[in-house]
Amino acid sequence: MTNDINYTNEKALSQAKQYTWYKIADNTAELLQDGNGIIEVTAGDKIICIIKHSNRWFGCAAKCPHAGGTMADGYVDALGNIVCPLHRYKFSLTNGRNTSGEGYFLKTFPIELREDGVFAGIEQNNLFNWLK
Ligand code: FES
Repeated sequence: MTNDINYTNEKALSQAKQYTWYKIADNTAELLQDGNGIIEVTAGDKIICIIKHSNRWFGCAAKCPHAGGTMADGYVDALGNIVCPLHRYKFSLTNGRNTSGEGYFLKTFPIELREDGVFAGIEQNNLFNWLK
């Protein structure tokens, strides 16, 4: 039940934000690979990580907010946290919260599977969004 509520809140929040959507692949098969299941892709002018975990797709920043570790070299634990390879800080794939408690926040990006491909949403950052 708690997970349903959290998902609903996340969905409401993501709907309130404005995104520019970038196609990152023609289909999910292009994104699947062996190894740790975390790959880097380009979305607009950003390099982000794409992760498949528990049959859901997630996007997050490619660099760790602590000291710039390469998140694609980390791993995802059984609880759905991406673990940075440098100092093992953990971040929720769902909302970027620093679940190991150091107080950092990892930027996350919504991923949508559409008929014409896989898209990553990059939050629009302009003055008019701040005024709304
Ligand atoms: S650089 Fe990622 S935990 Fe330190």
